[in-house]
This record gives sequence, C-alpha cells and structure tokens, in this order.
Amino acid sequence: MNLLKQASVYAENYLEDLKDRRVMPAPETLELLKKLDLPLSEDSSDPAEVLNLLHTFASPATVGNAGGRYFGLVTGGVYPVSLAANWLAAAWDQNAFSRLSSTAAAVIEEIALKYLIDVLALPPECCGGFVTGATMANFTCLAAARQSVLKKAGWDVNAQGLFNAPLISIVVGAEVHPTLLKALGMLGLGRERVIMIPVDDQGRMRADALSKEMSSISGPVIVCLQAGNVNTGAFDPAEEICRIARAGDAWVHVDGAFGLWAAAAPKRAFLAEGLTHADSWATDAHKWLNVPYDSGLAFVRHPDALREAMTLSAAYLPQGEEREPFEFTPESSRRARGVEIWAVLRFLGRSGLADMIERTCCHASRFAEGLKEAGHRILNEVVLNQVIVSFGDEEANCRVIAGIQQEGTCWCGPTVWQNQPGMRISVSSWATTEEDVERSLAAMIRIASEQKF
Ligand SMILES: Cc1ncc(COP(=O)(O)O)c(C=O)c1O
Repeated sequence: MNLLKQASVYAENYLEDLKDRRVMPAPETLELLKKLDLPLSEDSSDPAEVLNLLHTFASPATVGNAGGRYFGLVTGGVYPVSLAANWLAAAWDQNAFSRLSSTAAAVIEEIALKYLIDVLALPPECCGGFVTGATMANFTCLAAARQSVLKKAGWDVNAQGLFNAPLISIVVGAEVHPTLLKALGMLGLGRERVIMIPVDDQGRMRADALSKEMSSISGPVIVCLQAGNVNTGAFDPAEEICRIARAGDAWVHVDGAFGLWAAAAPKRAFLAEGLTHADSWATDAHKWLNVPYDSGLAFVRHPDALREAMTLSAAYLPQGEEREPFEFTPESSRRARGVEIWAVLRFLGRSGLADMIERTCCHASRFAEGLKEAGHRILNEVVLNQVIVSFGDEEANCRVIAGIQQEGTCWCGPTVWQNQPGMRISVSSWATTEEDVERSLAAMIRIASEQKF
C-alpha cells in the first residue's frame, strides 16, 4: 500500500477507536512503547514496517486528546479538516519563512490573519505572527512591548540590550499564568521583578488596586492582563484596566491563550469587552480553534514595534513592500501553520466557530449543574468552558480524581483554587458531544459516591 494511504487508514482507525477507548492509556499499554526501543539498525528498514511499528505500539499508548472526553489542560481536539490540511501542507513541505521561500504559505497566512482579526474582534490595523503556542505568543508580544516602551524612553533595546536601560515596570495580576512569567524571564525582564496586583475571588485583576499602584509608577510600563483564567475562565476587567493603563501611558498586553476566542461567540463576547483597547494579544489556535499542536498567534496593534523587535537582515533576504512572515516571528524557518488555520476557518465560517465555542461552554455548564445536583461544590462561576469541582478535602479530591483517571471514561486533572483543592474540567474540543458529557458526568458521580468517606 502507498505509505500515505497506509498512514490515513491507521489514522482513521485510530480516531474511530477513540470513541470507545479509555482516554488515558493504562500502564500496561504504556509498556508497549518499549517495543520501539529497537537497536538503531545499520541498514535501512521498510517504511511500511516503520509506520506499522508506530501504529501497533505507539497509537494505543497515546492520550485520547482527539476524542470527546479529554478535559485536561484547556486543549482542544483536532478538527478533521484542519488535520487533513495539516497533512497536505506537510506534503507541500513549505518553508513559511518568507515570501520567496513560499509565496503560497505567505499569502495563505495573510488571509488567515485577516479572518482571525475579524473573528477575534481585534483592531484592523493589527499585525500578527504564527508561532508555536501561547508561551511564544506572549514572548513575541512582550518583545514588541519592550521595544516600544524603551524606544519612547530613548533607548534602543535591540542594539544595546537591557544593560543600563531605563527600568520597565511590569504589572501583572496575582493570577498571571506561569508561562507569561517565563516569557518575561526569557526577555530579560525577570520572572520575579513584576508588580502583582491583587485579584478577586474569580482571579480577576482588581482595577481599583491597579489604579492605586499606577499612581506611584513612573517611566516605561507594561500592564499584562488576562482573558480567561486557566482555572475559572474569568476575564480581567479590560475596559477599566485599559483606561487606567492608558492614562499612565502603559503598553497593555493580553494573555488570551484560550479566552480570546470568547470574542468569536456572540453570547460570550461580553467577557471580551474592552480587550480591543489593548496593544497586543496572545492566543492559541491549538486550544479552542482545534487545530494540530504547535500553533500560537501573536497580534500587535503597532506593526513597527513587532517588526523592529523581530528584525533580521542579510544580503540574501528580500526587502520588498509586501508583508514578510519572518518580520513578525522569533522563528525563521518554520512550517506553514496558516494553512490549517485558514482551512478550519473556511470550513466553520463565522457561525460555525461561534456555535462550537458556545457549545463547549454549554457542556461546561452542564457538568457544573450535574455535579452540583449530585451534592458536590463548584468552586468557580462557570462563565466559559472551565469548571472547578470539589469533592471535599484534599484527600477526598485526590482519591476521587485518581479513581476517575484510572477508570478511564474521561480525563480531568487536579487543581487548587485559592487554597481549595478541586478537579478542573476544561471543555475545549469540538468533538465533545452531549453523550460524552453525560457519560463522563455519570462516571464522575459514580466514582465519587463509591469513594464515600
Ligand atoms: C492563560 C494561559 N496562558 C498561556 C498558556 C500557555 O499556552 P501554550 O501551552 O500553548 O504555550 C496557557 C495554557 O493553558 C494559558 O491558559
């Protein structure tokens, strides 16, 4: 059989099996992975046999992310159309570095950007870069922010680095995602040098506390707000924060790794109100847009700031008038991520995307309602796709979560929300059906009742 056909048969069987398979592989299935640890052979092998080894020993050992009952890590599944487009783009083997290395990749990326700016309700003057994930999207946006605020202070950070540079005040909410702090660390801005603003019981930055803090700050400032808390799904009050930050001439950055997609669903868009006043936005396509992994998006209102931060010149590089992809990303050679994003947006259309976002949020509400009816405590206001349920004290939560994970109907992870232990349910996959929700809910409730203390 042709190799690509063989891969597609394996993949189709795999996706079909996921409907009934346990979500997290059992320990004995993971043992199978050892079968791949073959001695590196001197001679080449039959490629069909290579694929067969992966299919036989690795497929059963994978996490069932692409099915409808994986509720960990705020990650989506993969839409068949985005998977197929990803395969096609991989076959094209395009280097999305520049217009010259692939005009097709560059043009498709530009169209995808236009669609994204539209559905995410971002300012039309935005530019954007296709990166590996939200961590790198935060990094990219913050590099532009650093460039811009220091330029205003008369400092060229690209040329001089941060040695003897004017100090930048970095303001974050106390519930900042750790990857944003990592991005700050990588930019030489320090993970621990941040000014932390207290948050409310849902993890939202308190605008009154920000206002007080801003009155004592002078010089370059970057304010980082969050659209979608990784536990509660709550949004910082963007309208107020942007107003306060603007008065202090600050750059406002939004970490909207998954939450930014609320703007694409009319019934959830109220959560995203005010985000449009920011200067930069980071999000993931591999989360709620349900495209394959390693797909993050960095949007910046001021194209010059991002271009200056990512600048690269060499005699062999083009200097044309048109958008050059490498001017907007930290990476140079890279795969054509725009293709699968274009494909899924073309497939869904505005209403298909809105329906998928809304549907997953409704599934989250159903989880909360069902667990509450069964006597369990919901620790957050369920406004988006995130639910935190408590099964009692720490020991009770550990036992119930371990029971749910071992039983295998679905998969959810533990968390701690404002000192209270719980289990986090994230519904981010297009593939989750009502039946998946009811089946998972029944398993959770049954396992919790069997663990009565
Ligand atoms: C708010 C927030 N920011 C950043 C990230 C990091 O995303 P990635 O793993 O795609 O880098 C996450 C991941 O869940 C997140 O929820």
